[in-house]
Amino acid sequence: MNWETFDAQDALADRAAHILLDAIRENPRIVLGLPTGRTPIGMYHRVVQECSREYHCFSDVVTFNLDEYVGIPREHPGSYWTYMRQHLFDHVDIHPENAHVPDGMHPDPEGYEREIRDAGGLALTFLGLGRNGHIGFNEPGTPFDSHTRIVELTQSTRHANADSFPDGHVPTHAITMGIGTILESKRIVLLAAGSGKEEAIARLRSGEVTETFPASALWKHEDVLVLVERQASARPSGPAG
Ligand code: GLP
Repeated sequence: MNWETFDAQDALADRAAHILLDAIRENPRIVLGLPTGRTPIGMYHRVVQECSREYHCFSDVVTFNLDEYVGIPREHPGSYWTYMRQHLFDHVDIHPENAHVPDGMHPDPEGYEREIRDAGGLALTFLGLGRNGHIGFNEPGTPFDSHTRIVELTQSTRHANADSFPDGHVPTHAITMGIGTILESKRIVLLAAGSGKEEAIARLRSGEVTETFPASALWKHEDVLVLVERQASARPSGPAG
């Protein structure tokens, strides 16, 4: 596991965007795994800026999002489909049929897994880090060999993501790639930034590999880069969530 530390989230986002764009330049047909959450917004913003200057960026790229809430339609303002349109898909030349986000109304975990396989498998996957160490929506206790499936969200995760649901109806379930699905990606880049992540980052750094801390599965992969915000790794720890 390689670590790079950044003084500011801007610099971290720049680095992440360049990794993504370089990977596309190297293989314009690349299959990407993509995250949501607050952390990757800066990365997407820079990718969109760069792509608007290039002849084409995403015309042959295939993407698979890590997860989606169950029980809300794609068009819901809090859905990850909406998030991806807002931050990336509506601003680049990706073909809609190549931009995959699990369907939260008709979740088909096996079908999603099959689509990833049929596309040739994930070549490069970006991840965010939940305060309790979750990756995708794989909460503590998730087996490391798990694949795409429907999961129940913990109270702390529902609380952390409540901003997207101002009416208070935070979904209770989600469909997520499993930890096994993520580990099958050839390369992984974890973006670890933002408030409340200190404890999770310290735990990941400790090197202890345990299913009670999902992100620790990444130690079992041979090509993982962690981009970490210095402040996020240095501030005194708060409650996990
Ligand atoms: C959500 C997503 C995760 C994401 C996490 C952290 O729960 N399902 O994929 O990594 O939140 O989000 P943030 O970047 O907002 O802290």
